[in-house]
Amino acid sequence: MNVLIIYAHPNPRSFNRAILDRVDATLREQGHATQIHDLYQMQFRCILDSEDLLRNWRGNLADDVQCEQAAVRWAQGLVLIYPIWWFGPPAILKGWIDRVFTRKFAFDIDAHGMHGLLTHERALILNTLGGDEATYQRERWHELLVRPIAEGVLGACGVRNVVHQAFYEVPSISHAERQAMLDQVGVLATAF
Ligand SMILES: Cc1cc2nc3c(=O)[nH]c(=O)nc-3n(C[C@H](O)[C@H](O)[C@H](O)COP(=O)(O)O)c2cc1C
Repeated sequence: MNVLIIYAHPNPRSFNRAILDRVDATLREQGHATQIHDLYQMQFRCILDSEDLLRNWRGNLADDVQCEQAAVRWAQGLVLIYPIWWFGPPAILKGWIDRVFTRKFAFDIDAHGMHGLLTHERALILNTLGGDEATYQRERWHELLVRPIAEGVLGACGVRNVVHQAFYEVPSISHAERQAMLDQVGVLATAF
């Protein structure tokens, strides 16, 4: 299938970059076609401003938003790769969602409420964190990570089969442990 990979990390030597490389290589080995949108490299304008709102209202979307929507339409699968910063995605990714997932494109609202318009078969969300898993599970913070993007954005917009995987303590674990995480990434991408 066609898979759009949305990648949000500013450092080309980051662990997130290693995750991106493993995902892309594995998906291609499996026969999928991939497109990588590296939001920092693209210098994606990530602030939904009053002009965007006006354009959304008039149905006259900015060129960069139209390009992103074309890529989302091209794909049957979505992969999102990003670190957790203050319990959420980096602002550049949040802003990509704000500007690209417009009404009439990603969702619509009628008398029954909001319904999704995206038809993607599956999505994979890969996150890295500095915190430890035990604390995140005990405090039920893990749920806070999964629900906003997996359910509140992708699920709400109609994407089926959203898989979420968080990798904890990335800055403090050993090289071997990080390699094991990359192997797990490979397994997830193989099953995509
Ligand atoms: C601005 C900022 C905010 C962060 N917020 C969190 C957080 O809320 N929870 C957490 O566990 N780690 C947090 N971290 C740590 C990063 O998630 C962690 O360093 C990163 O995922 C490691 O992957 P990388 O080496 O690819 O950057 C934060 C880091 C930065 C720079």
